[in-house]
Amino acid sequence: MSEQFFRKQTFKIYLLILPLVLSNQISFGNDEVNYSGPGDDKNGYDSRDYTTNSLSLEDRKGKKADIIKYVTIKQLGLPELKIPQNNKITREKIELGKKLFFDRRLSLNNTMSCGMCHVPEQGFTNNEIKTAVGIEGRSNLRNTPTLLNVAFNKFLFHDAREFSLENQVWQPVLAHSEMAMPSFGFTIKKLELIPGYKKLFNEAFPGEGINMETFGKAVASYERSLISGNSDFDKWYFGGNKNAVDENVKKGFEVFSGKGGCVSCHTVGKNEALFFDNKLHNTGIGYAESMGILKKIKTKVQLAPGEYVEVDNKIIKSVNQQKKNNDLGLYTITENPEHRWLFKTPTLRNISLTAPYMHNGIFSTLDDVIKFYDEGGFKNELLSPMIKKLDLTQEEKNNLKIFLKSLVGDNINILIADALSTPVGDLTKDDPNWANDTDMGYDN
Ligand code: HEC
Ligand code: HEC
Repeated sequence: MSEQFFRKQTFKIYLLILPLVLSNQISFGNDEVNYSGPGDDKNGYDSRDYTTNSLSLEDRKGKKADIIKYVTIKQLGLPELKIPQNNKITREKIELGKKLFFDRRLSLNNTMSCGMCHVPEQGFTNNEIKTAVGIEGRSNLRNTPTLLNVAFNKFLFHDAREFSLENQVWQPVLAHSEMAMPSFGFTIKKLELIPGYKKLFNEAFPGEGINMETFGKAVASYERSLISGNSDFDKWYFGGNKNAVDENVKKGFEVFSGKGGCVSCHTVGKNEALFFDNKLHNTGIGYAESMGILKKIKTKVQLAPGEYVEVDNKIIKSVNQQKKNNDLGLYTITENPEHRWLFKTPTLRNISLTAPYMHNGIFSTLDDVIKFYDEGGFKNELLSPMIKKLDLTQEEKNNLKIFLKSLVGDNINILIADALSTPVGDLTKDDPNWANDTDMGYDN
């Protein structure tokens, strides 16, 4: 194949993704790193350093693990997990929930699963886009949060509008911009028609079968088992192993818990640390975005490898498929003006795996986040009094970053491999007998 032909094809692909680029769905990180392009092909990239962590379907060869142990056995650094009385954890529920989580047939057009936004090999979030993209390329307002250790959250979503994993499940399934299923009943009927699910539900929930509650309970059971502690930091700080981390981590933790003031919100206890306080705070990110402070006037957009144009943000705004409203955080839920720009404190466990950061994915790197806090957040009338100018030295900033990187759980690769061993609801392979136009009973 001639090089010219190849360039033409690549150019076509770039034209195809141009609306996504323009609508700011593809994050370029910084100017040298280019996150776009087909798969892992770096032909024509400015820098060849970038490697994607996502895998093609063919390469999704994982290894099943008995992950129930992460729920039943306490991990170093994490508190004991409280499991709801009415949803005791079992292997059957976890396995069923996992299958549902990765099954693309749970979306209206059989393309989108939970696992395609909460991508296992990308920290159960999505490293390549700032704000989530759902079915048919529909834009979402917010960044996908990690699901690692999600079970410890008292509140769910960036604005804390949901309280249990069991109930949370239905929102993405029914959301027009995520999986777009038309109704609860339609989803349940579809599951009944897919060969295999009736049996699995009956085994996991004897006498109950497929219904709104059992669906939520199964998916929640899988999410609940995505627990990951026992990091190098935990081995040192809670386990007393002096050699588990190097001096920079220890110095970084000093900054974190002292001069940096990070622990006031990203809490560390005596015997355990979730690195969040189950509260919401105003750090100014939401304010700055609402006021247009975060938006540069022009954005550099790549059309084809090595070919850039500067595009006026007005044009970018005009091609956004879905108008992005101002994100007022908790105010959206309570309509209390005091609650403007309050967002939930996220965990910092596994933080080096879950870029980009903040509810809107505004920061691509931990360096950017640290710079933001060092400068005292974005000033506004409701800024948390705990966010102040820090004046950290370069060494303090470096050590803080090194400390944050020590928070990766030691079972991450097992959780990823287990996830990758799960079928993805490929119509031809997973269930060859199940036709795309399964008869829902409509006459015409
Ligand atoms: C289109 C991408 C997308 C899909 C598909 C998706 N999610 Fe999410 N998920 C998100 C985004 C974005 C948020 C944050 C939304 C917000 O705060 O308003 C989120 C939030 C969550 C949260 C809350 C986490 C926290 O820390 O507050 C959970 C739990 C969750 N999703 C589970 C699921 C499950 C289960 C499915 C499948 C049934 C799913 N998601 C499908 C993008 C997605
Ligand atoms: C006043 C409470 C508060 C303090 C103090 C604080 N944070 Fe945060 N942190 C938050 C909140 C709230 C968010 C989420 C903000 C958002 O989504 O817009 C956050 C987000 C983050 C994130 C991104 C997490 C993610 O998954 O997107 C990192 C990293 C972080 N903080 C690190 C730090 C460090 C390091 C310090 C100390 C220098 C610190 N924080 C101090 C409340 C705080």
